[in-house]
Amino acid sequence: GFNSRDSSNSKKLQVSGMVESKSVGTLIQLQKKDRPQGLYVDRGVVSPKLGKSFSACSLASGLNFGSTKAMPEAAGAVAAAAVADRLHGSKEDRKLAIVLVGLPARGKTFTAVKLTRYLRWLGHETKHFNVGKYRRLKHGANQSADFFRPDNQEGIEARNEVAALAMEDMIDWMHGGGQVGIFDATNSTRKRRYMLMKMAEGNCKIIFLETICNDRNIIERNVRLKIQQSPDYADQPDYEAGLQDFLERLTNYEKVYEPVQEGSYIKMIDMVKGEGGQLQVNNISGYLPGRIVFFLVNSHLAPRPILLTRHGESLHNVRGRVGGDTVLSEDGELYSKKLANFIEKRLKNEKTATIWTSTLQRTILTATPIVGFPKIQWRALDEINSGVCDGMTYEEIKKIMPEEYESRKKDKLRYRYPRGESYLDVIQRLEPVIIELERQRAPVVVISHQAVLRALYSYFADRPLREVPDMEVTWHFDLLLLHQRCI
Ligand code: F6P
Repeated sequence: GFNSRDSSNSKKLQVSGMVESKSVGTLIQLQKKDRPQGLYVDRGVVSPKLGKSFSACSLASGLNFGSTKAMPEAAGAVAAAAVADRLHGSKEDRKLAIVLVGLPARGKTFTAVKLTRYLRWLGHETKHFNVGKYRRLKHGANQSADFFRPDNQEGIEARNEVAALAMEDMIDWMHGGGQVGIFDATNSTRKRRYMLMKMAEGNCKIIFLETICNDRNIIERNVRLKIQQSPDYADQPDYEAGLQDFLERLTNYEKVYEPVQEGSYIKMIDMVKGEGGQLQVNNISGYLPGRIVFFLVNSHLAPRPILLTRHGESLHNVRGRVGGDTVLSEDGELYSKKLANFIEKRLKNEKTATIWTSTLQRTILTATPIVGFPKIQWRALDEINSGVCDGMTYEEIKKIMPEEYESRKKDKLRYRYPRGESYLDVIQRLEPVIIELERQRAPVVVISHQAVLRALYSYFADRPLREVPDMEVTWHFDLLLLHQRCI
């Protein structure tokens, strides 16, 4: 709801939770159910609290010109680009298909999942279509390598058929309002890609995204994960037999693989480690393709922890006042010391870690007792700007500006404080922070504020935007993320 003031009860719990790791229950539950691929949240104290209206409310896609809807579906650059597209772009150009290309075990699905998460977080209606799922539904999960032989005409037709089915579904979904479809299959021959391009004509623009990996160790690791985790091998109890079959399947694909040279494409070559790789682009234009390239060029899969924590309790927090720039309360100071203790232990062997704060006193003071790591202040990490309501209590807002109070309650995600910000605004300004967190190879500790942490956390945990404004950020929560899967 509107007032997410924290009860002193939960506060007491969390102060010790940070250090003694007592209060991890909620997150573990969340993580078991919803753990996104490639992301491990192995310690923390946050759980999104779903308001009643969530199941009923969904974000419509695109901007509704001339509709009664007063508030936009997106903010800043994303909204500007959507308007420009609508006014100037061709209808076909407004829909984008990112078609993955590459041999099995090259990290295609991982890239697809990651890109989907990023685009959704920015407010683009995005969906991942996995052709493997269609194949398993139609032809069963335990097809042997023979099914993938390049001279098995029946197999080729069956595979083309499921690819076409998935593509049809994706185009239908776009006609229903979807904006970016991520089409995940090997798509490793020119013929297959030609078929997809034909189907896309008049419906959407296609960009091929080819993942190339020449690192034997990474391929071997991916293959191992595939045997252990792919539904294709769920019924194969013998690891060695599974491995033999998969390697044969790989050879079958290698025989006919034709790297992309046609159309618009992005090639990611040995990008997984975050060093030494390269990204090649051809015939790329437009806002969204540009953003996608920028995201991909900055992301890598090298594991490293990211810790998110709220600042220690401030004087305004004690009084229930929003915003402001007050110093820490006694409890807040206690937390800052415990946090420093925790960080020192946790990052003992991490010489290159950095501490990020906002430019507001309460985060800077929370970081003060931490020594030995560079500290960086980000304006982008400042709390949501509550404009004319800054410094008021929720009760005061309700009394003095009942209409504002009601509007916010109705649509907290889009509601913009007069002369302040909305959650969507906050997400827009956090985009460079996300890109930088993706790019960093060393641990980062982010000390920030409730609304900002909701927005950042929703990215890492792949939560829908509509949940962001009501996620529960308990006092003094921390979480630790490791990016470590590559398939
Ligand atoms: O109350 C603390 C605080 O960080 C305020 O400064 C800020 O306005 C608020 O939380 C954000 O939470 P909500 O969006 O739920 O009001």
